Amino acid sequence: MEVIEAAVSKLAEQLQEARAESDRLFGILKPEALYQRPIAERHRVIFYIGHLDSFDAIRICREALGMNSPDAELDQLFLAGIDPDSAHLPTDSPTDWPSLDQVKAYVKRCRRRVDDALDHVSEEMVCMAIEHRQMHLETLAYMFHNFDYELKAPKADERTANRHQAFPTEEWCEIPAGEAVLGKARDGSFGWDNEYERLRVSVPAFAVQRYSVTNGKYLEFVNQGAKLPNFWRRHGGSIYLRGMFEEFLLPFDWPVYVTQQEAHAYAAWRGKELLTEAQFHRAAYGTALGTTRTYPWGDSEPRDILGNFDLKRWNPEPVNATPQGDSAFGVSQLVGNGWEWTRTPFGPFPGFHPHKAYPGYSANFFDDQHYVMKGASSRTAARLLRPSFRNWFRQDYPYMYATFRCVDN
Ligand code: AVJ
Ligand code: FE
Repeated sequence: MEVIEAAVSKLAEQLQEARAESDRLFGILKPEALYQRPIAERHRVIFYIGHLDSFDAIRICREALGMNSPDAELDQLFLAGIDPDSAHLPTDSPTDWPSLDQVKAYVKRCRRRVDDALDHVSEEMVCMAIEHRQMHLETLAYMFHNFDYELKAPKADERTANRHQAFPTEEWCEIPAGEAVLGKARDGSFGWDNEYERLRVSVPAFAVQRYSVTNGKYLEFVNQGAKLPNFWRRHGGSIYLRGMFEEFLLPFDWPVYVTQQEAHAYAAWRGKELLTEAQFHRAAYGTALGTTRTYPWGDSEPRDILGNFDLKRWNPEPVNATPQGDSAFGVSQLVGNGWEWTRTPFGPFPGFHPHKAYPGYSANFFDDQHYVMKGASSRTAARLLRPSFRNWFRQDYPYMYATFRCVDN
């Protein structure tokens, strides 16, 4: 009994920390940004202020515990985000939304109701609330990235010390044929519905680039006529990278962030392919002995020197910055410094069941329009670094911190 209470209060603490982190994140925006929409495919910021706590109250109080809500209308308004294709963009206006004071009061009511319910709800539901908020810490960072710098409170960021006009030479790692272990066993630890069941896949030998494709390498493709990625800007004769708080003269040794389509086109241009989800697992977690690791570097907890994740930076770092995080086969930064695009459409593993407290989380996206991303970016919380965690976006959605590497099959 005591053990269970200790576990619950540990999780309650993590939920408080995640709330503090999301409050800080909204705090980097100037007030005039809150009713704006930084990207056409998503809601105005004000929606997300309501959504994070409406989610917790709806899943925990309404769905899991069957409680009545004093805010049925606001719950509905803030229930779910949007993911339209480019032909169905939202057309609402700022006056369609409640005032900031109204939303803040709603958030307060939700937090109080959730806190009062925490002792009566399963650990699984608390984990769901924590991780949902942590995922939005990242998707909101993508969104805010696209706001004009004038709309963000100036922040001392990691200025690049040099111009990074060099990049590491290309290296390839040989991955021997073997078994990839995907998914998650039902061992009592938290996982989202799409992580189940455990799946073993036999993967033929392949070679993969040691480093993600860099801005420097991708520039060769742009110079052949490919479009500039969303994060790039041309000013006069030079190309710059739009960082979170300032522009950098294009850092040649940072991973390039592109859409899945752009990644695929670059790989095809070079006569290569993208990783499959199973190949990612082989390269990241497999070993020559046939065992599996928890993280590419082994089984120790994530730390700064092992990679760029857990909110370490607002921007990428060089692809060769964290060799201590390499996988057993010598592949760098498979987890951290940008998600890895795969060529695997997002779909269920055998034995998949939608979670009954949140049936639409994954199943709404099993449509062959979304592709699996694996790994992590600098804005991915440590909790989400487990091997079974799966991320997904549309193949032409250009805003994520997502990179790729080429595979030779
Ligand atoms: C798993 C990041 C694709 O943001 O669309 C947040 C996570 N789902 N609220 C998304 C999510 C509902 C989801 N991704
Ligand atoms: Fe959400």
